[in-house]
Amino acid sequence: MDDSYEKMTQLAQQIAVCEKCQLHLSRKKSVPGEGNIHSKILFIGEGPGLNENETGRPFVGQAGNFLNELLSTAKLKRQDVFITNVVKCRPPANRDPLPEELTACSSFLDEQIRLIDPLVIVTLGRFSMGRYFPLARISSIHGKGHWVDGRMIVPMFHPAAALHQPNLRDSIMHDFALLPTYIHEVEEKITAEPVENANPASEAAEKKEATDGVQLSLF
Ligand code: URA
Repeated sequence: MDDSYEKMTQLAQQIAVCEKCQLHLSRKKSVPGEGNIHSKILFIGEGPGLNENETGRPFVGQAGNFLNELLSTAKLKRQDVFITNVVKCRPPANRDPLPEELTACSSFLDEQIRLIDPLVIVTLGRFSMGRYFPLARISSIHGKGHWVDGRMIVPMFHPAAALHQPNLRDSIMHDFALLPTYIHEVEEKITAEPVENANPASEAAEKKEATDGVQLSLF
């Protein structure tokens, strides 16, 4: 019996009362993340902004509206994917998250990744990219699928940054349109792999197959 929904709920309860960093002092609502916990694809943004802090939901402001547009470019529905952030509480005045805040929050994200076990992770902006590519420049690696520890990671510009800059906007639209190809590529790779060489993503693929067509567990 799959208990990932209960585990995700418990995680959100822990996040709501977390005091591991100073961001809890100014939080109204924590923003654990939301979506389909059996999604093939996980989006990781930076941190809650004003609207997210009020509602407890990720990407609901202007950047969120643009993210919804980008998802449709990728032929993805928001309710079919999972969206979260590297920090779950709003940095005051939308400042960058501090290294100690990223560290304090990272075990929550680790656990979310373990529970969802997505085929593809999309990082939105430089802070989530930094988890996988600490030294990279986003301008060199955006929109490409990179294998990191057996999982495909696709770094993207942050939607808020891309929204008002025409060249970044074109880039991010183009990059999102490639996502179905990357998901397909991972599925093909898993199907082609002999069982004895199975990588961590294999289990994920079996799980996705088993849940395809079954009612989605939305969080
Ligand atoms: N809203 C979020 O939830 N995350 C971001 O990174 C930006 C806006």
